[in-house]
Amino acid sequence: MKCFLTLLSALLLFGACSEKKTVTNTGPAGDSAMVVAAHPLAAQVGVAILKRGGNAIDAAIAVHFALAVTFPAAGNIGGGGFMVIRTRDGATNALDFREKAPAGATTNMYLDEKGEVIAELSTRGHLASGVPGSVDGMAEAHAKYGSLPWKDLLQPSIDLARNGFTLTEREAKWLNESQETIIKYNTTRPEFLIREEWKTGDSIKWTDLSYTLERIRDNGRAGFYEGKTADDLVAEMKKGKGLITHEDLKNYKSAWRTPLTGNYKGYKVISMPPSSSGGVCLLQLLKSVEPYPVGEWGFNSAKTVHLMVEAERRVYADRSKYLGDPDFFNVPTTQMLDDQYNDERMLTFDPEKATPSAHVKAGAIPGYESEETTHYSIVDKQGNAVSVTTTLNGWFGSYVLVPGSGFFMNNEMDDFSAKPGVPNMFGVLGGEANKIEPNKRMLSAMTPTIVEKDGKLFMVVGTPGGSTIITSVFQVIMNVIDHKMGMQQAVDAKRVHSQWLPDVIAPEYKAIATEDSLKLVSMGHTFKSRKGIGRVNAVLVLPNGKLEGGADGSRGDDIAIGY
Ligand code: GLY
Repeated sequence: MKCFLTLLSALLLFGACSEKKTVTNTGPAGDSAMVVAAHPLAAQVGVAILKRGGNAIDAAIAVHFALAVTFPAAGNIGGGGFMVIRTRDGATNALDFREKAPAGATTNMYLDEKGEVIAELSTRGHLASGVPGSVDGMAEAHAKYGSLPWKDLLQPSIDLARNGFTLTEREAKWLNESQETIIKYNTTRPEFLIREEWKTGDSIKWTDLSYTLERIRDNGRAGFYEGKTADDLVAEMKKGKGLITHEDLKNYKSAWRTPLTGNYKGYKVISMPPSSSGGVCLLQLLKSVEPYPVGEWGFNSAKTVHLMVEAERRVYADRSKYLGDPDFFNVPTTQMLDDQYNDERMLTFDPEKATPSAHVKAGAIPGYESEETTHYSIVDKQGNAVSVTTTLNGWFGSYVLVPGSGFFMNNEMDDFSAKPGVPNMFGVLGGEANKIEPNKRMLSAMTPTIVEKDGKLFMVVGTPGGSTIITSVFQVIMNVIDHKMGMQQAVDAKRVHSQWLPDVIAPEYKAIATEDSLKLVSMGHTFKSRKGIGRVNAVLVLPNGKLEGGADGSRGDDIAIGY
């Protein structure tokens, strides 16, 4: 229902406005190493790898495969993602293992004869999937940076899948809620997943997946993109009228990219370049708010929220026009990150009044328009840092579980712009830059980020959350730098999202105090309250060199383990 609530109903129904509350939690500590991930078992796998002498990249690979088993709604081998690396010597790198459109994809593949978007075609079922990038990405990362043998990084996830593990309360609930949809979109009923009711503490085994992981352990990327796994995937695509072929799988290649960097109040921010919009938008947002004393204005005060929202509407308007796969579209990254350009974008910022989004268009650059993801942050004792965001897009992706190989496929094709001006499942708009083309990567909002202070590692941060990813990372960075919060406090703090269109402020429950909400309404803002925003997992290096973890355990099962 596209019902935009008035402030009053937002107040009454959602408690959008409440009294200010100070959060003072301190996160788990680590002397020198830490893993922060969405599942305790996956985090333990990462810590075990670090303790055996593996580096942060080794741990990231092991955590990635462990999440594919323990957190299959978002952790994956059937999806893709982005990795930002900062090694102990300060060198940085970024790996784009985002899915690609199959070669058979066409620009109008989700439109009917009248040119209208066919509901659910890009979000559910076989046609929604892009060619997965995760396994190739992990193999690439290992080839370049790994120090432990590949097979040692796969074995823990094989053991988890083969021997089983117990479900948390949230996992049991998610499985129960997804049963009907899983049955609906699968050509073969996955019996091992279908139960009248899953309960907390039930044990679940992923036997087929354990054999797939063994094939990956023994054959590297070929264990996924060739042989039985590829045969199973392609056979299922044929059965369900999907597009992915053997050729698509063989041709998939992740891409090393140069990370984007920018400065914010003396800190260096290192983030993901396109095909994610995350880094560009995050740096644009930070540039837009940098001249203002938000620390003095206060956390989620009317002034601070107003400034953030005004910056966000301008940046998301740019995103819809200029961002897409750089291998297909000339993304004007340099111009978008130009200081003068961002200053000029904010010239229309009125500190007293909301600018209706209808009056905000993408900036003039000469020549040119799931939230259910997961993030893990890792620091090893040598000081290497890895920030990875990965996803199937929606919860359990397309819901298609590849029979015989036991993994869920993504529904990432929905991140393309199926039709200019029609929002995707995250409500974000796209245009020419992000139209569907064969072998192209769909635009992402994933924002794995690393922050440096005085040339040293300072923070590793990222989150799931679809279009809210960018604004969540933005706020957590501001929480630490401007509002002087610790890592856990910055992660726990209530979030507020806005993205140009729809023209609303979406605060978490009790994110903004009553008087500030009233002030924002008087400035012309509209509210639409919403449930939890993001699941940020982050690490902060404290002044004494020790680490503080910030895990979004109140919004998920996320955990930080340091030592
Ligand atoms: N699928 C969500 C994103 O890539 O932003």
